[in-house]
Amino acid sequence: MIYLDNAATSFPKPEPVYQTLDRFARTQLANPGRSGHRMATEAERTLDQARHTLNQFFNGEEPERWIFTLNCTDALNMAIKGVVNPGDHVITSDLEHNSVSRPLVAMERSGMISLTRLSSHDGYLDPDELRAAITPRTKLVALTHAANVLGTVQPIELIAPVVREANALLLVDAAQSAGVVPIDLRKTPIDLLAFPGHKALYGPTGTGVLYVGSRASVRVWREGGTGGDSKHPVQPEELPYRLEGGTPNVLGIAGLAEGVRWVAGQTIEANRRHEVDLLQRVVDWVEGNGDGWRVAGRWEPATHVGALSLIPPDQDVFPSQDLALGLDASHGIAVRAGLHCAPYIHRALGTYPDGTLRVSPGPFNTSEDIEMLLKALTEMTAGVL
Ligand code: ALA
Repeated sequence: MIYLDNAATSFPKPEPVYQTLDRFARTQLANPGRSGHRMATEAERTLDQARHTLNQFFNGEEPERWIFTLNCTDALNMAIKGVVNPGDHVITSDLEHNSVSRPLVAMERSGMISLTRLSSHDGYLDPDELRAAITPRTKLVALTHAANVLGTVQPIELIAPVVREANALLLVDAAQSAGVVPIDLRKTPIDLLAFPGHKALYGPTGTGVLYVGSRASVRVWREGGTGGDSKHPVQPEELPYRLEGGTPNVLGIAGLAEGVRWVAGQTIEANRRHEVDLLQRVVDWVEGNGDGWRVAGRWEPATHVGALSLIPPDQDVFPSQDLALGLDASHGIAVRAGLHCAPYIHRALGTYPDGTLRVSPGPFNTSEDIEMLLKALTEMTAGVL
């Protein structure tokens, strides 16, 4: 399989991640903090270390502010539903994934909040348009860092101060950027940062993270056992336990921490550049083949992650879903087609409801993989275009 679907989840993982998962599952997979024996203590230490690793990697305020969640969707729901109150105004954008859009639209439809959705321009948000949309009632600005359909990286360093000046909270969905675009929480005033562990941080699926900065007070989300302090009749106030109830996915978190350590040992910019260089070949093919293929959004290699959406020449003849199925069945190539759980940007692009064909290489893909993809696309459309 030539795997070009790393925006959905990264594959393969770096070898140390597989080794850690195997070793941890065989020797340390006890319930962290629930029992006092050495295996439970060791599992608890793994969780603590993982919080330290994340805090160091993203330069956060303190390790206790890193909450382990089921996935990025869980982290985003915790953040959105945990800080917004009736009567608040929230700002989001047309680039968002349904994990941001659906909770916000549901709150808007119930009459709880008012919602402004900023329009992107060729895949990029304008900080001045955000500034103009802020009202005295704006409580939360919830934006993606790198758009999952287009791969465009938003100017978060310019956006964050605008939100801070307005005394609102900034929630950043870093699903496609964490691990591949530097994020420094002490330089960029982000209040809430959500990301999955299984994309560019190379942990397994079933891992997500929410960082809760000191300006954000997130309501209790999932009540239950926290290991210590069992006498307390309600969920403890202090982080991380306030937001973590039940046995955590300590195996997954061990793998995620190993993934973060692997990324920290790399040059992040070199990894991003590798993926973008591979996509440059796709862009060159699109521009050179003259058959009417188009790249969705503006292609700016300096502000792009390794995800690129292609618009086929004629969706009636070549629906993107059929092309993806054909790439898999006949060529052993994995990509993702359709709306990518982000319908608003497809409406803006004019690619709704068929969607686009998204190609997302990772650090282990080679230029030969891309040549195979382009050869396959050429063959599949030969004689018809
Ligand atoms: N959110 C993931 C994607 O963009 C699954 O494919």
